[in-house]
Amino acid sequence: MTRKILTAVLTAALWNGVPTLAAQTPPTAASATTQTPARESPLNSARASQFADSILALMTLDEKLGQLAQSPGAGSQTGPRVPTGGEAAIRAGRVGSFLGIFGAEYTRGLQRIATQESRLRIPLLFALDVIHGFRTIYPVSIAEAASFDPARVEFSARQSAVEATAHGLHWTFAPMVDIARDPRWGRIVEGAGEDPYLGSAMAAARVRGFQGGDSALGLGAPDALLATAKHFAAYGGAEGGRDYNTVELSERTLWETYLPPYEAAVRAGAAFVMSSFNDIGGTPSSASDWLLGDVLRKRWGFKGAVVSDWGAISELVKHGVAATTGDAGILALRAGVDIDMADGVYVDSLGAAVRAGRIPEALVDSAVRRVLRVKYALGLFQDPYRFSDVERERRYTLAPEHLVASRLAAREGIVLLKNSPKTLPLRKDSLTVAVIGPLADDARSSLGNWSAAGRPQEAVTVLAGVRALVGPSAKVIYARGSPVDSADTTGFAAARNAAAQSDAIVLVLGESEQMSGEASVRSSIELPGVQLALARAVLHAAQRSTQFVQTDTTPRPVAVVLMNGRPLAIPELAREAPAIVEAWFLGNQHGAAVADVLFGDYNPGGKLPATFPRATGQIPIYYNHRNTGRPADTADYYTSKYLDLPSTPLFPFGYGLSYTTFAYSNLRLSATKITAGDSLDVSVDVRNSGDRGGEEVIQLYVRDDVASVEEPVKRLVGFRRIAFRAGDVRTVTFRIGPESLALYDRQMRRVVEPGTFTVYVGTNSDDVLTSRFEVTGDVLVLAPAPPRFR
Ligand code: NOJ
Repeated sequence: MTRKILTAVLTAALWNGVPTLAAQTPPTAASATTQTPARESPLNSARASQFADSILALMTLDEKLGQLAQSPGAGSQTGPRVPTGGEAAIRAGRVGSFLGIFGAEYTRGLQRIATQESRLRIPLLFALDVIHGFRTIYPVSIAEAASFDPARVEFSARQSAVEATAHGLHWTFAPMVDIARDPRWGRIVEGAGEDPYLGSAMAAARVRGFQGGDSALGLGAPDALLATAKHFAAYGGAEGGRDYNTVELSERTLWETYLPPYEAAVRAGAAFVMSSFNDIGGTPSSASDWLLGDVLRKRWGFKGAVVSDWGAISELVKHGVAATTGDAGILALRAGVDIDMADGVYVDSLGAAVRAGRIPEALVDSAVRRVLRVKYALGLFQDPYRFSDVERERRYTLAPEHLVASRLAAREGIVLLKNSPKTLPLRKDSLTVAVIGPLADDARSSLGNWSAAGRPQEAVTVLAGVRALVGPSAKVIYARGSPVDSADTTGFAAARNAAAQSDAIVLVLGESEQMSGEASVRSSIELPGVQLALARAVLHAAQRSTQFVQTDTTPRPVAVVLMNGRPLAIPELAREAPAIVEAWFLGNQHGAAVADVLFGDYNPGGKLPATFPRATGQIPIYYNHRNTGRPADTADYYTSKYLDLPSTPLFPFGYGLSYTTFAYSNLRLSATKITAGDSLDVSVDVRNSGDRGGEEVIQLYVRDDVASVEEPVKRLVGFRRIAFRAGDVRTVTFRIGPESLALYDRQMRRVVEPGTFTVYVGTNSDDVLTSRFEVTGDVLVLAPAPPRFR
């Protein structure tokens, strides 16, 4: 037996591809790649499989089930630790991975127990939700999506991986790639918004960033962090936006809108997929062999492992598809869930089920094989301590280059929603700047939800950012005004005073970070508490004749800075406030980046990755809706609209202003007719028509005008974020090929149909130039129909 173990370990040692740490250079160019070509994944190389089999042959059933068990860490004053009995479980081979445990020294100790004191010496995996940073915190995912800059997003993920792995972590439960069309759903903050194309680009970028290279090829480096595409599938489609709720979707919408980002993450080489809590039309994902088998493994060729969401296996009982947790375990394993997160169902009950002949041991073996292959691909059998490196931990924790990149990422995610002429940027020599609002000095919220090992005391708030930027030449006065979410107006007087004494006002409003994220659902997406009343009071105070600048009788400039994890319905603010800056939650450098924008050190160029409704009652509202037979028409009563609201959003998808202006002209196509299967080029001239440099996201949409099924009114199929100097004119060219033109036809085949297509290019989904071309020839079938939903 011992010799066999030794042979297995030696087989691992023969493996020799240990790449070096990834480069730290920030990206220079933005790109919008959605599809990474599939290459052989180290997750199922012949060596990994052989190695896994050689270990599997030695394992008892209990040891196998141990590899499928993921145990959560328990908090302690010195950091996360294994729960009571955890070390004994490692020794007995009853646990394969931990969640929420990190620290180079501590994980080294646990790895020592696993590889020296357990019978088979199998190393552990350590996992954590590194969603937008580990200790250095980057912008929340919705803010990073607003950058429309996948290269930047990839870089944030890369640096997060470098930092997290130095603390002994191997695995993150990110990216969350769930499409969300309902901003009541608090987890919209964790994703890339409403669009499948943008969502796919961001999904692939994050996977590449975490894992350190294309198609998981970075795996094996000691700074490659295993990525998890979650929550599979359509978790963001929860009815009413209520977290964990049932999802009711047509098969078509599932394939068109919800599934593409998961597929993009899988193609980029994600090592893990997480099965979601929700059911789709009555089948819980964690029991769906259609999703995990037919779609994920067969159709997409996924080679990694599936982890359940926390407790999702035992919840199959509450879903009402299993009578006992034991039955739930059988259902989940059969469906294809490999690792059981946190609820111990597999380890507690599958042994008896196998012994009773209720489930073949071969199914357990398949799951274990996938887990062992991942461990092998990381190089853990060769050196279980390679991630637990005290030197690297010291070197990379809050590394200066991480803080710099976090600030750059934060600036790119900011969206300028409104700027009445000359309100912004503010002058740095304003004598007195008032910084007002419940979130102005909220460090916790600056970091955002899921801030891993981030520390509020290391976050720059807007108040701190403004103070640092204006320096001693200006006086900064601060008034909280009101809490985020209560009826307390006692701070209004101080806020009015602050406004009245100032030359410029920064008013920071929105939601605290706990108001979005898991289970943080709001039935109304208006500004919470009395913040709107506070805004009225401050705007009113700003109107009064100035006391301190006698020569200037114009109202004081007021810039509203929004902090929030979801689109907000702010029609009054949009009407009355002279300037609005959407800042989301930007991480450690939140306030520094906001100040850069407010005072013009950086010209904002972010765009909205999700539609901002006028009122909660407009939800769901998204740009890529179908036209219906009676599209909204104010002149026609019997059309699809509300009596009490316009049919348009407050701010459309892709919207965002700049301190300069961009003029689009001369939209042209390289051909007016192509045969199905061919491509054409779409070019447009974009001129920076203002007087300062800036960045613009040029967006490309298409529509198949007449198709066998009803197409969305437009679909994003390309974008590019480009820097312009004042006066620059650039010709921007996109290629449109079959993938951009394809739809799922009535048989659910992926096809390009002949007929006319409209092309839209512009600065947001509403403000576009249009042109048209024709596809001739026969229907081109790109892919056969996927397996039918069951
Ligand atoms: C539950 C969440 O739904 C999931 O996103 C997360 O990764 C796990 N908890 C682990 O924290």
